[in-house]
Amino acid sequence: MARSKSKESEPDPDVRIAIIGGTGPEGMGLATRFAKAGHLIYIGSRSEERAEDAVAKVRESVPDGHVFGGLNEDGLERADFVFLTVPSDAHDDTIEQLAEAIGDKILIDVVVPMLFDREGPKAIDVEAGSAAQQARAIATDAKVVSGFHHLDASALANVDKPMQGDVIICSDHRGAKDKVMALVENIEYIRAVDGGPLANSKYIEQLTVLLIHINKIYRTHSGVRITGF
Ligand SMILES: NC(=O)c1ccc[n+]([C@@H]2O[C@H](COP(=O)([O-])OP(=O)(O)OC[C@H]3O[C@@H](n4cnc5c(N)ncnc54)[C@H](OP(=O)(O)O)[C@@H]3O)[C@@H](O)[C@H]2O)c1
Repeated sequence: MARSKSKESEPDPDVRIAIIGGTGPEGMGLATRFAKAGHLIYIGSRSEERAEDAVAKVRESVPDGHVFGGLNEDGLERADFVFLTVPSDAHDDTIEQLAEAIGDKILIDVVVPMLFDREGPKAIDVEAGSAAQQARAIATDAKVVSGFHHLDASALANVDKPMQGDVIICSDHRGAKDKVMALVENIEYIRAVDGGPLANSKYIEQLTVLLIHINKIYRTHSGVRITGF
């Protein structure tokens, strides 16, 4: 399913993206890159004020971007894609609160279940197997897709610098997965790779923890590149 990729595919100005927890580094990074790709972005927050601040920051990087924001729940109805970028300890509660508003939309779970202790970041075991499977257990109507974990927030936000690497996408919904893989390829030089069913999400979530250690060792923003095709 993956194909070679050298530059971004044609952006679709009608694509509407809502980001739950969009005021943090990862949500704002995604907002900035997708705004640059020409999509309509809604930055969600628990606070209208924080959402407005985040919108202003993204517009500094992408002045002609279609970027809006407000309370998490208010951006969901019109969204084609809903990203979830809250801390792992807020994952379940946030989905529980918003499950009805998310309905049967495509929900892209970017959350890495992890904690930091003296030895650094550590993966946390999730009862359902992975954060994404946990999301599906709560938002039962949503088309849950797992991905984007390996795109570092600061690299995403630095829109003047092309990114590199693959985004591995896992889902049990073929149609939703195809749509999200196409969305991935709106990011310049990033390739989408089909990672199989949602049950495989635990591997991409846990690999992210390893990447954070590698970032520290090499003082870099590492990513993932699958070879052989
Ligand atoms: N940072 C990265 O490079 C990176 C890369 C890949 C994946 N991720 C994953 O992406 C997610 C977000 O990362 P981040 O670094 O952007 O996180 P963050 O800054 O800690 O949190 C993102 C946003 O979540 C909201 N939030 C915080 N606590 C909450 C709570 N208890 N309930 C509901 N919302 C809450 C906050 O928005 P409001 O206060 O405005 O509501 C906050 O700005 C994490 O799960 C992380 O594992 C991060």
